Amino acid sequence: MLSSSGPDLWIADGPPITAAAGFHYPTRMAVARLADGGLWLWSPVAFDAALRDAVAALGPVAHLVAPNALHHMALADWAAAFPDARLHAAPGLRAKRAELAWTDDLGADPHPGWAGQIDQAVFPNAIAPEIVFFHRASGTALFTDLLQQMPPGWYRGWRGLVARLDGMTGPEPAVPRKFRLAARPRAGARAALAQIAAWPVETVLMAHGNPVTRDAPGFLRRAFRWLG
Ligand SMILES: [Fe+2]
Repeated sequence: MLSSSGPDLWIADGPPITAAAGFHYPTRMAVARLADGGLWLWSPVAFDAALRDAVAALGPVAHLVAPNALHHMALADWAAAFPDARLHAAPGLRAKRAELAWTDDLGADPHPGWAGQIDQAVFPNAIAPEIVFFHRASGTALFTDLLQQMPPGWYRGWRGLVARLDGMTGPEPAVPRKFRLAARPRAGARAALAQIAAWPVETVLMAHGNPVTRDAPGFLRRAFRWLG
């Protein structure tokens, strides 16, 4: 259910979700415990009572974070279960999910609730800008869709071909081609990458793919070489 991923950081895998054109994705969320004991939930996966109880056992849920406008499916359930939590919208989500009780908008500056503990960079994307986070205590960078790696054999038939061409099923996690093309403006993407490269990253977590723990800085350099 919840597994430790370093000091004050846990991850939980959710059930696969089906997105556009019938592509299904494995899902993962992260839970960070902040200095005041409150919990920061990143990209919550499908809600269930057992996961809710496991999370609640770690502390009070203070923040629910939707790191891009594509990761919002489970938020209503989590917000209903933890009505005191602040609800943080990635760019575009307030309009897309107007019925949710958003309290904050994610941007260049970390919310005061986690500033100094979790850093963030806004990676521009014409499809869905993504807020990339860095959890200092565990040295963990959190990527939502920007980096992906599906397990071998995850997709069959034409989807397998499309996924391979898109870079979603390579030997190590990669930025899918659709997101490379959408990384505009280029200057903003390079600025975000420079910010990420300055973080002392030891582990790279992603919503769709297994964590990278070996030579994380070298992996990130390879993964973003296309950006120049
Ligand atoms: Fe995703």
